Amino acid sequence: MPSDKKVQGSLNFHKKMAFKICVVAQMDQLSIENIRKDFPILSRKVRNNVPLIYLDNAATTQKPKQVVDAIADYYLRYNANVHRGIHALSEEASEKYEEAHLKVAKFLNAKFQEVIFTKNTTEGLNIVAHGMYDRLERDDEIVVTRMEHHSNIVPFQVLARKTGAKLKFIELDKFETLNLESAEKVITDRTKLVSIPHMSNVLGTINPVKDIVDIAKAHGSLVLLDGAQSVPHLPVDFADLGVDFLAFSGHKMLAPMGIGGLIGKEEVLEDFEPLLYGGEMIKYVDYERATWNDLPWKFEAGTPNVGGGIGLGVAIDYLSNIGMERVHKMERELTKYTMERFSELDFVQIYGPPSEYRGGVVSFNVFNDDGELIHPHDVSTILDEHGIAIRAGHHCAQPLMRAMSIPATNRVSFYIYNNYEEVDKTVEVLKEVKALFS
Ligand SMILES: Cc1ncc(COP(=O)(O)O)c(C=O)c1O
Repeated sequence: MPSDKKVQGSLNFHKKMAFKICVVAQMDQLSIENIRKDFPILSRKVRNNVPLIYLDNAATTQKPKQVVDAIADYYLRYNANVHRGIHALSEEASEKYEEAHLKVAKFLNAKFQEVIFTKNTTEGLNIVAHGMYDRLERDDEIVVTRMEHHSNIVPFQVLARKTGAKLKFIELDKFETLNLESAEKVITDRTKLVSIPHMSNVLGTINPVKDIVDIAKAHGSLVLLDGAQSVPHLPVDFADLGVDFLAFSGHKMLAPMGIGGLIGKEEVLEDFEPLLYGGEMIKYVDYERATWNDLPWKFEAGTPNVGGGIGLGVAIDYLSNIGMERVHKMERELTKYTMERFSELDFVQIYGPPSEYRGGVVSFNVFNDDGELIHPHDVSTILDEHGIAIRAGHHCAQPLMRAMSIPATNRVSFYIYNNYEEVDKTVEVLKEVKALFS
């Protein structure tokens, strides 16, 4: 039996901890309110003059003033093409564009020469798929999972069809998490590429990347990580994860559309064929042949999206100021709260794993009094009338929807500016939706 003194000590400890947690939660609420001031769009009224509640961040996030100002500054003060002019503006633009690569490198713990700017995640994944063409023989294997976004399956379907390679799938446990036993079985010595999402845009699941890397590396396979939903939301350390490639989109992390990144291990990129050929990516050209530029420029053919790159750099500054650990924690807490609030509604079904296995994405369906599905398009239309923007549909994951035997889901997804009141309001409107359709 513990002495009274010990019990009292322990109680005091827990009280202090509870107080601390409460203070941290309040501080986060305060900082959310400060963050919101940087996003003028969040004080907009929409539809019937109601305040906007933006819960579609997995599709794209809003942009803070700092990012928009930096892009405007580039176009208004030093717009020029990069890496070709000797004049002042070109030098300034080149410097800022390269600085943006450096910021990405630092943010993801990669080397400067490993950071390729792309349009988006999709382009990054396609660069890797294209580079695999001359590395695959008939009956070699490409492995993906059953929870892919179309961007991480379609390029590999085509690659498999054209090379005679086989496309194989890591199975899921209860449509929640990756089944590692299945990964052990599916990945073999014939596997040349394993490509998995770091976080599912439908289920919210954060996958155990290092476990998959261990299995893939034991068979000598390359590993590609689709970081579209992880890079914006959690600390991601490219070197530590041990993957060969990592793709992400700027527009899902406060940056403008049309800019993203593919990070690749230097030694792999050196040996990899680029997707696009032309200006900027060459070192020497004569009428018969050409040699390629140094990394990363070998993979950035043509005039790049300079303003977008600069905007991405500023978005990274913004996120780094908050701290990615904190971003992740804030979203986790909001997701946990959302799942608790949705669980109070016996007419709502949530998909995916418990909150401790997921990031800030909650997919769900709503049923009427007769237990019939209320189509997500109807649910989202009514939410929209109340200013609440969510995503409804197959989320670019038709195979997963079919495997789960559902036509579509509703999805709320969070970012640094979302708060608890927005979740409460969503719960209230979901009750109205159910009443209306019953
Ligand atoms: C998991 C995942 N992969 C890839 C993509 C494709 O991203 P993008 O359309 O920016 O290329 C998305 C977009 O939603 C995604 O969620």
